Amino acid sequence: MKVEDLLFSLPLPVAITDGEGRITYTNQKFEFLLNKSFKYLKGKKLSEFFKNREKIEEQLKKSYTDLLEIFGFRDNNYYLSFSPLYVASKVEGVIVIVQPAEDNPFDEDILLLLKGLSHEIRNPLSGIKGAAKLFSQLKEYDEELVTVLLEETERIERLLDNVTKSFDFSLLNFEKTNIHRILQSVVKLFESEIREKGISIVYDFDPSLPEIPLDSDRMTQAIMNILRNAMEALSDSREKVIKIETGYAIQPSGFIFVRIKDSGAGMDEEELKKFLLPFFSTKEKGMGLGTFIAAEIVKRHGGELKVKSRKGYGTEVTVLLPMKRSDGKGSDS
Ligand SMILES: Nc1ncnc2c1ncn2[C@@H]1O[C@H](COP(=O)(O)OP(=O)(O)OP(=O)(O)O)[C@@H](O)[C@H]1O
Ligand SMILES: [Mg+2]
Repeated sequence: MKVEDLLFSLPLPVAITDGEGRITYTNQKFEFLLNKSFKYLKGKKLSEFFKNREKIEEQLKKSYTDLLEIFGFRDNNYYLSFSPLYVASKVEGVIVIVQPAEDNPFDEDILLLLKGLSHEIRNPLSGIKGAAKLFSQLKEYDEELVTVLLEETERIERLLDNVTKSFDFSLLNFEKTNIHRILQSVVKLFESEIREKGISIVYDFDPSLPEIPLDSDRMTQAIMNILRNAMEALSDSREKVIKIETGYAIQPSGFIFVRIKDSGAGMDEEELKKFLLPFFSTKEKGMGLGTFIAAEIVKRHGGELKVKSRKGYGTEVTVLLPMKRSDGKGSDS
């Protein structure tokens, strides 16, 4: 089979560029997408036809020169993925796959909202910080108190940075990763809290799972959010057990699963319905964003987050993750 025939049959718009970002091939879907013929497109810069031109040039270069695979770069209404094109183990160009973004503008709204929110918090915060600095220059002051003031405001600043960054899913860095490593590192992060609260963690890992393509920072964040909820759900429980299980999913095949099961408060039907919605929280200090972010991250990995719960008995959250990416790159490449 010729490569052209293969690309022609792909259900998505595909273009190939040379090292300079100039189009050397497009399939028919790509021609339709831009409403331009290949004859016209050939030799032109790919970035010309998109909005974030400079960024796209940058991604193309990264992919070609640094051999990076870039997945899900957002340009207006499209997600673009870039992979180096190898011909006889030499890099000959970059394959660009275009996917229409979902019509749902929700993600962007949320991002805007959060940016607005952190902006609003940042203003008074810088006031506090400034005052604390002035305060620290006075002759007589409580040094410890000032340190606390400064440290805490800096912590909020970092938190805000993280929140806004964590909602910007346009760029994920996929690398083959052992999911067990991520799970263990998250448990490690919570270790002192787990001990303090008297929680037992029970592992049931399938050690034969392959490494799978993940953005490990993002996946760590998703697992942290789920595990934190499990821990919080246990606060009034007599039996405080969290079971973390992994394995090959039966349905859908080609997926692995991570299941985090707690013996905590559980949810009734109403709560279950709202579980994934942003800003739904039953906690006094909850933002209601933990599961929403986790689900979003899992979705961007081509996976799915599922939940089962029974009020008074506990909750299990299952993360399904594909072993290979939808573009065919995966565990045994
Ligand atoms: N493991 C669980 N057991 C019981 N209820 C849960 C569990 N996980 C989530 N929930 C319910 O879903 C709600 C939403 O969870 P989510 O993580 O999105 O927000 P949160 O924990 O309230 O706040 P935060 O933004 O700090 O995570 C929780 O307030 C809780 O009612
Ligand atoms: Mg939470």
